[in-house]
Amino acid sequence: MNVLMVCLGNICRSPMADGLLRMKFKQHGIEGTVDSAGTANYHIGKAPDHRMRATAKSLGYPIDELRARQFKVNDFDQFDLIYAMDNSNRDNMLQLARNDEDMKKVRLILDELPGNEGEAVPDPYYGTQHDFEHVFHLLDRATDQIITNIKHHDNR
Ligand code: 4NP
Repeated sequence: MNVLMVCLGNICRSPMADGLLRMKFKQHGIEGTVDSAGTANYHIGKAPDHRMRATAKSLGYPIDELRARQFKVNDFDQFDLIYAMDNSNRDNMLQLARNDEDMKKVRLILDELPGNEGEAVPDPYYGTQHDFEHVFHLLDRATDQIITNIKHHDNR
């Protein structure tokens, strides 16, 4: 199972989602690739935001080695599931989709989390430490649910 996490800048939300799911794939022996990308080109080549890195490290899922890249059409061929952090990221990717098959791969990540369907992972970029921790905990729960779904082959 190859999974791509996507946000706007690829320096806060999607690298955190990537780091969590990457480690959980290892812990559960699930084969496949986990990666992340941004719909924007602002931060290509940069490490994740220092506040997201600090939160990630303190809670046990370091993401210092990740580097930002931009989402590309070819990602539709490389990945089975493509998770958007919010509706804007989702719409941007759907505009690049070439066909129904591409479109079906794109999902809102919190649609996987019972009780949070339809919600966005809030962009913490202009926020506080609390906002970064909130993002971590939402993504920790969402990635647990993704692991459960993959193990039960319940990927719709
Ligand atoms: P992300 O957060 O999409 O979670 O990586 C952002 C990072 C940078 C910017 C916006 C959102 N920015 O405008 O530079």
